[in-house]
Amino acid sequence: MPLPDIHIPSDVLFRTLVFSAEETRDWMNILTDEEISRRAGMKNEQRRHGFTAGRVALRTLLGERLGQAPAHVNLIVGPTGRLACPDSGLYLSLAHSGEVAVAAASHRNVGIDLEHVRDKPASLLDYILADEEKEQMTLMPIHPTEALFMCWTLKEAVLKANGTGLRKSPRKVRLSIDLPSAKAGAIDPMEKVWDAFFGINDEYAIALAIDPIG
Ligand SMILES: CC(C)(COP(=O)(O)OP(=O)(O)OC[C@H]1O[C@@H](n2cnc3c(N)ncnc32)[C@H](O)[C@@H]1OP(=O)(O)O)[C@@H](O)C(=O)NCCC(=O)NCCS
Repeated sequence: MPLPDIHIPSDVLFRTLVFSAEETRDWMNILTDEEISRRAGMKNEQRRHGFTAGRVALRTLLGERLGQAPAHVNLIVGPTGRLACPDSGLYLSLAHSGEVAVAAASHRNVGIDLEHVRDKPASLLDYILADEEKEQMTLMPIHPTEALFMCWTLKEAVLKANGTGLRKSPRKVRLSIDLPSAKAGAIDPMEKVWDAFFGINDEYAIALAIDPIG
């Protein structure tokens, strides 16, 4: 299993799906016609496989919870791009990167992000981190690439939980990271506070942000 460990709160339903290109082709019968046509419009092949795996991970998770076949789960895309399952009372989030997809659902608002760790252009640093954070990062007892991916996934998880996604700058999410416990506090651009958890290894960084209030 290439994914790093991450603490998942007990009230969060969580699913990991490691996939290959061949497998995602076999999963097309789990997707709706709308999902199949959206998938067909994606130029990047890896993106198509990730999209399929993300939807299958979430559909399987919700199908088990709701007692429905994964293909029959009613998923709708909201105005900001965020997914919802009407009448389930659950907040949903999913992410895919490399050959892994993850999905989370909870009665508390939740956001999840996953990134395949790889070399990134230096400009990413400016996009993700505020100036004071760049300084703090150099003091962290971990490799700078790991620190960048840790901050990136934490901030994107928060922006997915609050529903804005990258329409808001990750620089505007403030983090307070506790490395030993792999936990963080976060304040989003609207000054809302989030709890967050993260994990990182040589291959993947993962983070989950959740509303501390149930
Ligand atoms: C949401 C967003 C951060 C996802 O980033 P990503 O690295 O491309 O993809 P991830 O694997 O992390 O997440 C994908 C999932 O995010 C979810 N998502 C999309 N918009 C979202 C939003 N506003 N809030 C929360 N979740 C969102 C979807 O469920 C999507 O899954 P899908 O592809 O099956 O529909 C990014 O696409 C975004 O900010 N979109 C809105 C703004 C936009 O379109 N900007 C142009 C590109 S920067």
